[in-house]
Amino acid sequence: MASRGAVKSAVAVHSQQPAAYFNNAIKSPLVIHTGRRPICLATYRHPTASKRYFSGTGPSGIKEFFPEPNAPQTRITQPAWKHPIYSQKQLEDIVIAHRQAKDWSDWVALAAVRTLRWGLDLATGYKHDKAVSLGKRDPQQAVQKYAMTERKYMNRNIFLESVAGVPGMVAGMLRHLRSMRRMRRDNGWIETLLEESYNERMHLLTFLKMREPGWFMRVMVLCAQGVFFNAMFVSYLVSPRTCHRFVGYLEEEAVLTYTREIADLDAGKLPEWETMAAPDLAVKYWNMPEGYRTMRDLLLYIRADEAKHREVNHTLGNLDQDDDPNPFVSEYKDPSQPHPSKGIEYLKPTGWERKEVI
Ligand SMILES: [Fe+2]
Ligand SMILES: [Fe+2]
Repeated sequence: MASRGAVKSAVAVHSQQPAAYFNNAIKSPLVIHTGRRPICLATYRHPTASKRYFSGTGPSGIKEFFPEPNAPQTRITQPAWKHPIYSQKQLEDIVIAHRQAKDWSDWVALAAVRTLRWGLDLATGYKHDKAVSLGKRDPQQAVQKYAMTERKYMNRNIFLESVAGVPGMVAGMLRHLRSMRRMRRDNGWIETLLEESYNERMHLLTFLKMREPGWFMRVMVLCAQGVFFNAMFVSYLVSPRTCHRFVGYLEEEAVLTYTREIADLDAGKLPEWETMAAPDLAVKYWNMPEGYRTMRDLLLYIRADEAKHREVNHTLGNLDQDDDPNPFVSEYKDPSQPHPSKGIEYLKPTGWERKEVI
């Protein structure tokens, strides 16, 4: 991986000579901001890019996602939920984890996630396990056959983030309706759930600043959203606990995927990303400090968010869905003891047990 200094100088070049930088040096997806409308300069195509329509792209549309920021009467819209500050150590300390399934509800959730993962791996050509086993016998052939490129990873990220924002919104909406229908308090769950879906959408918007999906991807996203939203809606009415466990397991997979992306980046397998800077939108949303605004830093922030969702949903899956308060917004009698919070200072990868927080 490029040294921090090399990355910094690349970022400096980016800000001073964006056109030359992008056209001659990085050949990545790009947009420059002239103060008015974003301009797409070039679209990245990896030499070994897959011919799958899933990853189709075109140079024309990025501005469509990010319209005019300066309307006549307004300047900028601030995020509705300010992101908690993460320290560098906290970001680096995120670990892959798995919560053991303990009852039928957990097994149903785990089986659903495994099935979805299998389907997505098939659709996006992601064959990590096969690549590892072939790599032990014939590393060169493994790279040729299964290597994940920046393009493949980005397609996968965009697709995943487009569905990841659904469960929190569905759960928050259903709890909101239930609270009104039953005329009783919700105990603080709704906001955390909506904030989670907002955070997932910010992940998606960040990736869309780097790559524009083609028509096939859009159709896939549309279909996936239609199916997933309705499936989640019905499932959450039947068993909210299973749904939170399902999201917990899904987030375990997300942490795993982003950890592999970071490892591949560190191993020099994703050269385009080594010199890529995080988009402005991401720098502002995560409050990324100066000198820590590279693609690698961005992946660290997103991975930490996924680890937070993993903790939140595994914890919510351990609680009484009707009566328990949301431990992530509760005040604790002894705040000096580790307890659930909005940030990741006391992150618990497999979630908090009910007796620890209620
Ligand atoms: Fe995400
Ligand atoms: Fe997530």
